[in-house]
Amino acid sequence: MISNQRDKFDMPDDVAYLNCAYMSPLMHSVVAAMGEGIVSKTRPWTYRPEDFFTPAEEFRTLAARLIHADVEAIAVIPSVSYGIQIAANNLPLSAGGEILLIEDQFPSNVYAWREKAKACGGHINTIPRPENGNWTEAVLQAMSVRTEILALPATHWVDGGFLDLEKIGKAGRDVGAALVLDLTQSLGAMPFDVRAVAPDFMISACYKWLMGPYSLGMIYIAPRWQSGVPLEHTWMGRAGSEDFSRLVDYQDRFQPGARRFDMGEKSNPAQLKGASAALSQLLDWGVENISETLGARNSIVADRARGMGLSVVSDGLRSPHYLGIGFPSGMPEGLPEILAVENIFVSVRGDAVRVTPHLYNTDADIERLFDVLQKLMA
Ligand SMILES: Cc1ncc(COP(=O)(O)O)c(C=O)c1O
Repeated sequence: MISNQRDKFDMPDDVAYLNCAYMSPLMHSVVAAMGEGIVSKTRPWTYRPEDFFTPAEEFRTLAARLIHADVEAIAVIPSVSYGIQIAANNLPLSAGGEILLIEDQFPSNVYAWREKAKACGGHINTIPRPENGNWTEAVLQAMSVRTEILALPATHWVDGGFLDLEKIGKAGRDVGAALVLDLTQSLGAMPFDVRAVAPDFMISACYKWLMGPYSLGMIYIAPRWQSGVPLEHTWMGRAGSEDFSRLVDYQDRFQPGARRFDMGEKSNPAQLKGASAALSQLLDWGVENISETLGARNSIVADRARGMGLSVVSDGLRSPHYLGIGFPSGMPEGLPEILAVENIFVSVRGDAVRVTPHLYNTDADIERLFDVLQKLMA
């Protein structure tokens, strides 16, 4: 278990921020690293050509370590929608072929697939929310020889519903389907190992459980797709771009590994240094430890919610770091606003209140949430 880490954040005592799934706060160390990045552009005469490359390589290295991947397989992207589009552009889909999604999936992992299906004469099969809450079973049952692409998360962003990606990955390979993952709501809070899951593409934004800045993300690209087509043809993605005096010796060859997929103007030192500082801290804490610590807190919250007659996805079917509390007799009107007046911050997604604490939360934060809930439901 990890002890409370609130002192690493700028979080007043009277704020109960239970909304990491919306956006994590930046740690002091991340803000300092971002500041360093910003300041470096106040003196461009000290900014060397290699400074366009090294912060990205540091970020790539840490991202790879987080998911047990080869550093060559990571590219720097601005958003999940960008990463999903890379996957959609490079994966084949035959006429009549099927793309499998789950109901109410986050839109960044939906729209590109709708366009892909339209363009190729394929179709989308959206798996309805299973009554027993078991998404893994539902996905395994929905798979068939027609399934060509599985585009999934590990954690349902609405209520934390869990998908066992090792099992799904294996079953997908058995039917010859490609696996594309959006792990924005789990990476950094739940262990993930590319060697065990073997996805074709894995994408995550940095601003939630990776505790980094907005407008930056990572994509893992399996070796078999690394010679594919990038979304943009960047000058830095081409071989020899480190030599600024020779950039108009136009090159057909790309930088090695997945670097060709890096976004244009990836070299934003504030973004990259901030994200790397956050990844270093996560690696220091250890993702297993983070998961266990958040899981223990959420189990207590879940038990208390159930004790009040509220509904929560049961522990085995829920990602440990993530909780959606349902109100079988209806959510009290204006609940998020009432909580916000008390400086308690959660999200409402669908019919559930999403409670997603992190290592900065204290027992007192949870007490304050339940004090308000109990008063409202009395
Ligand atoms: C599951 C999931 N994926 C992706 C995103 C963000 O997507 P994008 O980076 O395309 O804005 C969110 C934001 O809430 C999310 O919950």
